[in-house]
Amino acid sequence: MDDNRIISGDSASHNEESVEKSLRPQYLSEYIGQDQLKSELSVYIKAAKQREESLDHVLLYGPPGLGKTTLAMIIANEMDVGIKTTSGPAIEKPGDLVALLNELQPGDILFIDEIHRLPKVVEEMLYSAMEDFYVDIVVGQGPTAHPVHFPLPPFTLVGATTRAGILSAPFRDRFGIVEHMKYYETKDLEDIVKRSAEIFHAEIVTQGAHEIARRSRGTPRIANRLLKRVRDFAQVYAKDNIDVEIVDHSLGMLGVDDEGLDSTDIKLLKTMIVYYNGGPVGLNTLAANIGEETDTIAEMYEPYLLQIGYLKRTARGRMVTEAAYKHLNYPINNN
Ligand SMILES: Nc1ncnc2c1ncn2[C@@H]1O[C@H](COP(=O)(O)OP(=O)(O)O)[C@@H](O)[C@H]1O
Ligand SMILES: [Mg+2]
Repeated sequence: MDDNRIISGDSASHNEESVEKSLRPQYLSEYIGQDQLKSELSVYIKAAKQREESLDHVLLYGPPGLGKTTLAMIIANEMDVGIKTTSGPAIEKPGDLVALLNELQPGDILFIDEIHRLPKVVEEMLYSAMEDFYVDIVVGQGPTAHPVHFPLPPFTLVGATTRAGILSAPFRDRFGIVEHMKYYETKDLEDIVKRSAEIFHAEIVTQGAHEIARRSRGTPRIANRLLKRVRDFAQVYAKDNIDVEIVDHSLGMLGVDDEGLDSTDIKLLKTMIVYYNGGPVGLNTLAANIGEETDTIAEMYEPYLLQIGYLKRTARGRMVTEAAYKHLNYPINNN
């Protein structure tokens, strides 16, 4: 996949990491949107602090770029505890997990990103760690091998995943707090763009922020990326502020259409319309046709197209809706 793709909801590349860090809100009060989630979390956090207990384990799920990592860090700040960050694929064997758990101070947070990609043996070892704060590890080899009961400090596991559906039920059930992150409303993204512009010391008019917000697929990470590119255009064209014209011009140059769709979205929809008469088409077939990974389509493209009603799921596969035909200017053939 093209790493420079502007619309990508993927994690930031290395050079973007520091910028992303500077844009990350540190406390719940700075976290824009997701009001329901924020008010719930603030109650759980307050209650845990009053009882001087560790916060219950938290599972955050939703498409990439919606603020899961940011929220994990905010939880640590709000709880006033330390946080260790890792990801599912990075914990290859039980020993890796024990090493991580061993470093935790009482109340600390262990943040596991892409938690759906944890090896099964590690996942199973987490069950007792999460429930009763211990792990049983086997020490030694062959005839001298024996289990050792290894107590742990109370800790909070925060897991993030784009695919809650593929976590096993016993694992999911061990999270006391399960939060579904939703795509952001345009007005919230507008506030995010304004906040980021301020951090960048870039002047932006409300209509400009609104236009970026509207075309960011409900995703803060994309809004911030688009803002950065638009800022480049504004600078080179010696504009003293970012207005709708410069936003529209820049996004056009970037191949982001009026609805915020990028070339892959459009290719996906057009392939379905032209070669499959609008569907139904299976996800794997579609992915092969447009040269993308099935996971990329399932996690990044499909959810938004479903959300805006350009795709629908049926038992026999995905179908393009009338709204998508209209948007792409294809005649609808009702057969
Ligand atoms: N609610 C929010 N308010 C302000 N900025 C946000 C919010 N959610 C996400 N962001 C911004 O979007 C970027 C991507 O968020 P991140 O937490 O990395 O997403 P995820 O982990 O879900 O992929 C962050 O750098 C942050 O600046
Ligand atoms: Mg993340």
